[in-house]
Amino acid sequence: MNKAQATKADQAPCSFVIFGSTGNLAQIKLLPALYHLERAGRLPPDMSLFAFGRRPFSEDDWRGFMLEALQKKLKDKFRQEIFDKFAARFTYVQGELHKHEDYNKLKEALATPKMGACTHVVFYLAIKPAEFGAVINNLDKSGLNKPRGLHRIVVEKPFGVDIESAEMLNDVLHRHFDEDQVYRIDHYLGKETVQNLLVFRFANTLIEPLWNRNFIDHVQITVAEDVGIGKRADYYEQSGAMRDMLQNHLMQLLTVVAMEPPANMDADAVQDEKVKVLRSIRPISKRTVNAHAFRAQYAQGFVNGEQVPGYQEEEGVEPGSVTETFVAAKFYIDNWRWRDVPFYLRTGKRLAKSMSMIAIRLKHPPQQLFRETPLQTIAPNWIVLSIQPQESMHMEVHVKQPGLEMDTRVIKMNAFYQDEGGASLDAYENLILDVIEGDRTLFIRFDEVEWAWRVVDPIIKYWAMERDYIHTYAAGSWGLHEAGRLFDGEDQEWRNEV
Ligand code: BG6
Repeated sequence: MNKAQATKADQAPCSFVIFGSTGNLAQIKLLPALYHLERAGRLPPDMSLFAFGRRPFSEDDWRGFMLEALQKKLKDKFRQEIFDKFAARFTYVQGELHKHEDYNKLKEALATPKMGACTHVVFYLAIKPAEFGAVINNLDKSGLNKPRGLHRIVVEKPFGVDIESAEMLNDVLHRHFDEDQVYRIDHYLGKETVQNLLVFRFANTLIEPLWNRNFIDHVQITVAEDVGIGKRADYYEQSGAMRDMLQNHLMQLLTVVAMEPPANMDADAVQDEKVKVLRSIRPISKRTVNAHAFRAQYAQGFVNGEQVPGYQEEEGVEPGSVTETFVAAKFYIDNWRWRDVPFYLRTGKRLAKSMSMIAIRLKHPPQQLFRETPLQTIAPNWIVLSIQPQESMHMEVHVKQPGLEMDTRVIKMNAFYQDEGGASLDAYENLILDVIEGDRTLFIRFDEVEWAWRVVDPIIKYWAMERDYIHTYAAGSWGLHEAGRLFDGEDQEWRNEV
């Protein structure tokens, strides 16, 4: 997994096909990631890229489209000479995802790659989940998945919309691809801090003895965004924050915090441990949904000083929609390590700021030794892993204030710090390299998806019946006070700062 080193010499050159090449994901994440890999010299020299899209673009139009998207995203980091090299790898194929005849055009293009002979193809489905099935079937009809076993297919989250649809989608995939060709991506697993969490936990004897119900009071996982849904209403109305973020990104973070040490770092060994966590999550019954989950939707407000519309005013949102843009949930993991330790997860759009972190609160010391001093109660220790915008990891401990009084202050012991100029790869860059190199460790096995759906399905089903009301929160706030009703202890509250 050490991608800081040179690209593996034995790696086969491949063709890389993007379905949904003009979509939001391609513009915001995929194209910038591929461009960065080009800049870092990490794309195999023989790799050709193919953009499959509906728009009637000429090669020049496609180049212009990419140029605009990359300049907008990368701003002063954009370099024309890198772009020229990058754009020269591309062939644009105009086609409809649902028309299998159009896949013949792709087949012809793949037979004449811009950069040289190709041994295998990566198909990247950067499209709406509802279209996965059509693309997979059409790849088969046009023979693009042959010879079986050779090519790779990358499927974005959410994988299905509930457990039944996930199973159906998986059946379609397995009809045409072997499991080891399938890369179910959750880009949160490619984030540096998340991978560092594995090192922090399993490479330090200092941490492991504390990492359990004897010392940990509760765990908070927050993924907050200040952005709204932008132009994605079409997708978001069907998904909401639960399916878009919590079922996948936040659940994956939870598994990495809670898993047991794997037998080794092979993909299966790691995934086995993550599945065990998901299987141990206490099921939520219909009766207890309200005690375990809270949803809300943003109303208009101010974000970074700018007035922004509410969800109901966003383009494409159904009037009276009760789609949640904020969700908070509480889970218990019923195993020896975690029984009765609450894991509080929350995520939302149009919150006060963009920030993702895992915050672990330790228990109070068993004895109040400083009761007779000015120091009445000691705040608990925290271990905080900031995922973004900064990547950092610190422990908060008490030290005595210098002076005559018995007073303390909290200092932050940095366990790891990645400065902004650091050379680490972004999540998508990391994961795309893994796909090219055939490393599936940071991808999701189907049983993980399945168990994650099992955990959240009761909540989704309950909410689906309550279609007439949803709480609202002002854009630019931290959501609603009511989200605090999930807390077990009176001294527990959301932590909004790293
Ligand atoms: C995507 C969601 O998976 O993750 C988006 O579909 C969300 O709604 C995005 O904005 C957040 O990713 P990141 O890496 O910017 O935190």
